[in-house]
Amino acid sequence: MEVDLKERINPSEVNHSNMTEVAQTIGMGQQAKLPVKLSWTDLTFEVYNPKLKTTKTVLNKCTGFAAPGLTTYIMGASGAGKTSLLNALSDRVKIGKHSKITGEILINQTVKMESRLFGKIASYIMQDDYIFEYFTVRESLLFSARLKLCKNSEEEIERIVDDTLATLNISKIANTIVGSSEKCNIAKSQRKMVAIAIELVTNPSLIFLDEPTSGLDSTMALQVSKLLRRLAYDYNKTIVATIHQPSSEAFELFDRLILICDGNTVYQGMAKRVTQHFTSMGFQFKSFSNPADNFMRVMHVNYPKEEKDFKLIELLVSTYENTLKEKVESDSGRIEIPTDFDITEL
Ligand SMILES: Nc1ncnc2c1ncn2[C@@H]1O[C@H](COP(=O)(O)OP(=O)(O)O)[C@@H](O)[C@H]1O
Ligand SMILES: [Mg+2]
Repeated sequence: MEVDLKERINPSEVNHSNMTEVAQTIGMGQQAKLPVKLSWTDLTFEVYNPKLKTTKTVLNKCTGFAAPGLTTYIMGASGAGKTSLLNALSDRVKIGKHSKITGEILINQTVKMESRLFGKIASYIMQDDYIFEYFTVRESLLFSARLKLCKNSEEEIERIVDDTLATLNISKIANTIVGSSEKCNIAKSQRKMVAIAIELVTNPSLIFLDEPTSGLDSTMALQVSKLLRRLAYDYNKTIVATIHQPSSEAFELFDRLILICDGNTVYQGMAKRVTQHFTSMGFQFKSFSNPADNFMRVMHVNYPKEEKDFKLIELLVSTYENTLKEKVESDSGRIEIPTDFDITEL
């Protein structure tokens, strides 16, 4: 299915009142409580190394957005700054004597993202999940729901847990003991689904995932990508995920893509337009090749950086700034967001 940002900005198929009605009828409270647009401007993260007396710019003036009803994937080489960007966006970076973050992160254009607010509207699924190995799948969700939803009755909690199990297609394994990450009783992709389900019980509007498909084979990784797309499309959630080596099939499911190279944003836009961006710069790719493999090869930088690496980064950054940056800012401005929302009511 072709998805254009234009359609999604004013998505006819996501009718909030209808969706809420449907959700209530089937007993699901999963429609995003509040559609969330996340935007960031000139996000810079610097770390000073007192031994070497050098400063590393982990993120360099990154500007961008993630929209409700869309998946936004962050890609880049290992060490490019993907996790740092995800952590910065979710106010998780520990700021110490030697590190500094500047820039602005806003929820729906007006409210600053901070950890207190994060707990109310968002969830973060880490690369290495922590699930109690002696719990069954259902008990893991119940444990999380009881902790997080202390205002709900036990009856409501059980309903939310069962609905979440059904949404993620893991009801069949509800009574299976999860097991440790080394000796898992359930498939790896199911374990990832459980990690996601544990976070979904609070019905977050905004979901961050750090490499949710790492360690999964391509069929399992595809299942996770399909789930993320469904959470965005069917429940109007805002999905932001870093990802490593997606298959062509998984890549086809991505809506927006942000490429990070050495801490810089070097592409941002619809994933299906990324190849065109690189070919217009003169890079040539074999037809029928995996687009993700192609641009990952282009963005390869050696450390310590040599002259050719500096030149490549400069080319990628300046091309992005000259051809796409303005469009990203105008697209961001066109995202429909509720204007009368009161964050304190959440
Ligand atoms: N708190 C920190 N202190 C020092 N270096 C850091 C810190 N956080 C990130 N880095 C460095 O920034 C770079 C990007 O890291 P990261 O965001 O983990 O990359 P990725 O997720 O793309 O692999 C790495 O070189 C990493 O060592
Ligand atoms: Mg990482």
